[in-house]
Amino acid sequence: MRVLGIESSCDETGVAIFDTEQGLLGQALYSQIDMHAAYGGVVPELASRDHVRRLLPLVRQVMGEAGTTPEQLDGVAFTAGPGLAGALLVGAGVGRSLAYGWGLPAVPVHHMEGHLLAPMLEEDGPDFPFVALLVSGGHSLLLEGRALGDYAPLGESVDDAAGEAFDKVAKMMGLGYPGGPRLAKLAESGSAGRFRFPRPMTDRPGLDMSFSGLKTFTLNTINDLGGVDALSEQDRCDIALAFQEAAVDTLVIKCRRAMEQTGAKRLVVAGGVSANVMLRERLDAAMAKKGVRVFYPGLAYCTDNGAMIAYAGALRLAGGERCGLPIAVRPRWPLAELAPLAPDAS
Ligand code: KG4
Ligand code: ZN
Repeated sequence: MRVLGIESSCDETGVAIFDTEQGLLGQALYSQIDMHAAYGGVVPELASRDHVRRLLPLVRQVMGEAGTTPEQLDGVAFTAGPGLAGALLVGAGVGRSLAYGWGLPAVPVHHMEGHLLAPMLEEDGPDFPFVALLVSGGHSLLLEGRALGDYAPLGESVDDAAGEAFDKVAKMMGLGYPGGPRLAKLAESGSAGRFRFPRPMTDRPGLDMSFSGLKTFTLNTINDLGGVDALSEQDRCDIALAFQEAAVDTLVIKCRRAMEQTGAKRLVVAGGVSANVMLRERLDAAMAKKGVRVFYPGLAYCTDNGAMIAYAGALRLAGGERCGLPIAVRPRWPLAELAPLAPDAS
């Protein structure tokens, strides 16, 4: 089964072709970051218009590079939510229409399911069942993945998502957008132990998370030092490190608890923040002690991309799923609302 996948939920236009026998045949990604950076964050209308400009040329490029003709495809998958309504409509409109024009089935994909399954694109990727930590710019959640589409929530962030907290703290420090990777880079030169930030919601039971207090604590620390303009380069690095350590430790503590609670032996970590090196190191160390194997996406597949959508779409199409002709998107779409594929669908 060979599937064209389209991602356009936020500020990245991603296109890829995944073949269930041969793997990933081609992919391309266009990031709008430079366009939005001037505004300090994503401007939805600009995002939609840019997806319109980029998408079809990217599809042509990937089809060419993969040496694939429409006749060789078995379906088209597109991100149908959650995300920015206008941006989603571009991918859904183009994806659904291409499938119609080519006489192929189309399948809508949940963006977070795409992230969740991205580690399966790696050699020796995870099998169900597993516990997953999904940490992106819009979501932070822990869930039990029992089978394709069967995701039981264990906990989630009650306020900011982990990536959002990285981005907001980075913005506070004048690092620009998106700040997560830049903050992580700064933290590499920080001196450990100068500041200790709180690990929110780790002193009480449960798997919910909170990052907004940590953000406020960071702001107060900056203000205690005389404001962002008064910070030395070393101050900035030390604050970045203290914030990152607190955010990472919070995630590690919650993962440890989730593994104890479920008894699962596989942990999948995905979404943009799963690219964070400290998170990977500390999770690996904590989980090794528990005999838990941790699976991550390749670095190129942590943040938004078309490959994860083509992959998730291929699994769903192979399971018999397809959608009708109406072009529908769901800007808000809880992952837990997905259902396991009907056993008689394939
Ligand atoms: O999954 P993603 O591309 O978008 C959403 O679906 O939201 O994740 C983007 C998020 C941003 O908040 C970005 O700052 C964060 O992932 N991120 C990182 C790192 N790389 C990306 N956060 C911390 N450390 C990183 N290395
Ligand atoms: Zn994403």
